[in-house]
Amino acid sequence: MNRSRGTYERFVRPLLFSLDAETAHHLTIGLLRRVSQSDLVLRALKSFQLPSKPKTLFGLNFPNPIGLAAGLDKNGVALRAWAALGFGFIEIGTVTAKAQPGNPKPRIFRLPRQQALINRLGFNNDGADIIAQRLRAQRESQRWPAVPVGINIGKSRVTPLEQATDDYLYSFRLLREFADYITLNISSPNTPGLRELQEPQKLAHLLRAIASEVGTDPKPIMVKISPDLSAAELKEILAVCEENRVAGIIATNTTLDHSSISPDLHQEGGLSGAPLREKATALVREIAAQSTIPVIASGGIYDAESAREKFEAGAQLVQLYTGLVYRGPRLLREIIDKL
Ligand SMILES: Cc1cc2nc3c(=O)[nH]c(=O)nc-3n(C[C@H](O)[C@H](O)[C@H](O)COP(=O)(O)O)c2cc1C
Repeated sequence: MNRSRGTYERFVRPLLFSLDAETAHHLTIGLLRRVSQSDLVLRALKSFQLPSKPKTLFGLNFPNPIGLAAGLDKNGVALRAWAALGFGFIEIGTVTAKAQPGNPKPRIFRLPRQQALINRLGFNNDGADIIAQRLRAQRESQRWPAVPVGINIGKSRVTPLEQATDDYLYSFRLLREFADYITLNISSPNTPGLRELQEPQKLAHLLRAIASEVGTDPKPIMVKISPDLSAAELKEILAVCEENRVAGIIATNTTLDHSSISPDLHQEGGLSGAPLREKATALVREIAAQSTIPVIASGGIYDAESAREKFEAGAQLVQLYTGLVYRGPRLLREIIDKL
């Protein structure tokens, strides 16, 4: 692929990649957190503003269709920085009802030649109570971004699967007032049993419980699914989502199928980035063919072409994670310029 390398790829990435992946992540988030708190720096960043490619979906106005995928800002600490970098929407989380440390380290692995990551973080996050307080403080001090904010919620590790619905409800009640949309994450591979919530009866139970809570200010509900579903499983999930008026499907989370990488690179965990591209696109295409529910595509977007592929497959919006780690914020401009 012939493309020029920007400042991030030439200077910032080598520095970050000289550190272990999680240290680099904390350093970046710490910096963006400070950026988020500085009106001066935010104004300076805004002078690089990207062309506007507005889109209205779920009753929300997106300045452009490129979003930040869940997992990068799990605790919602850098909202205004993401918006200043040009993201058209931001998804924070996964947030769980209880604060939790996640799995033992190391738990994020880079595969640079494959432009991929494997992670088994296991939903390390501050928990719904603290995150709700943080979001309230940002909103009350007018430090809130001008783009839609989604909140992705999941099950706490200690909660047995049979009580998963109550666990989701706890986070939902606390966080919905801050969210433009809520994502039910039932597809991360690093919380034992979580993916079982994709089974039709369990999913229907969760969706009904959430629907019975909507109150006077209903928020669009997204369901984030795994790329490892069979055709039959996908069909059943779509039927349940349609029956329960799910607003959108996020396709996809990371994959447990590591057959696209050499066995010596294997680590336990979810694979993301370029090796996930085709599988995620195929799922987006399948959903668009079978259903009218809008799709937010995530998985293996690392340049304008791989983003266009998702839109051509039927996605309405896209989200970035691994591509951002390898390409930096310039990836946003590259995609938007070619939309
Ligand atoms: C280190 C890491 C942490 C992630 N954490 C979450 C998470 O907490 N919740 C979630 O729904 N997805 C999470 N994801 C999945 C991403 O949101 C995204 O769906 C997936 O990585 C595919 O997109 P990509 O190929 O652009 O990375 C995580 C991904 C990575 C690489």
